[in-house]
Amino acid sequence: MPLIAPSLLASNFLRLEDECRMVNESQADRFHLDVMDGRFVPNISFGIPIIEHIRKVAQKPCEVHLMIEEPEKLTPDFHQAGADILIVHLETCRNLHRNIQQIKSLGMKAGVAINPHTPPIALSEILQDIDEVLIMSVNPGFGGQKFIDQTIEKIRELKKMLQLKGLSRVLIEIDGGVTLENAAGIAHAGADILVAGNTVFKSADPKAMIAQLKEAVHQ
Ligand code: DX5
Ligand code: ZN
Repeated sequence: MPLIAPSLLASNFLRLEDECRMVNESQADRFHLDVMDGRFVPNISFGIPIIEHIRKVAQKPCEVHLMIEEPEKLTPDFHQAGADILIVHLETCRNLHRNIQQIKSLGMKAGVAINPHTPPIALSEILQDIDEVLIMSVNPGFGGQKFIDQTIEKIRELKKMLQLKGLSRVLIEIDGGVTLENAAGIAHAGADILVAGNTVFKSADPKAMIAQLKEAVHQ
């Protein structure tokens, strides 16, 4: 069964505490927190003070998906704010290996995200150093976009790479456009973690939706 990571970007910010409690009470496995800087992506979301508040209520690990330039500058601050897993974009890191060491030296788990145009092979020299790969299945910056079908092939390719390298412990996470309809196909291709924003928070019964996404793999 895939792990489910609800993306708070699609939650009701006026009722953030209730939304966090819902995730606590649900079968979700972790919180997914999207940070955008208006430079790497054409949108701005929320930052460190909000994450500090979420962390006080969250009873599950918090992964922070950094869609920001020069993530190394703020890595200690996100650690301080309570990030358990820090995910940086390959496209924003000129010294990715150094950034990963920095994240791990602070005691966080490290993930690398790749945009739709970036092939999994670009990660071949960093896979042994990280805990997970986040494959963007939409262009980063906004929730509620349509899943890019080519992602399925990328998942298979990455899965094969990990197997060949004996690195099956490295988890594959899919972010963007995950729905109840496509969740099973994504999981069957080899994804370990599904991020879901709109599918969860815009549903009439978010907790039930999280449970259904987890079960989708059996369909
Ligand atoms: C997009 C973010 C996603 C987003 C997913 O840049 O990284 O995490 O919140 O939202 P949905 O699931 O609605 O596509
Ligand atoms: Zn995300």
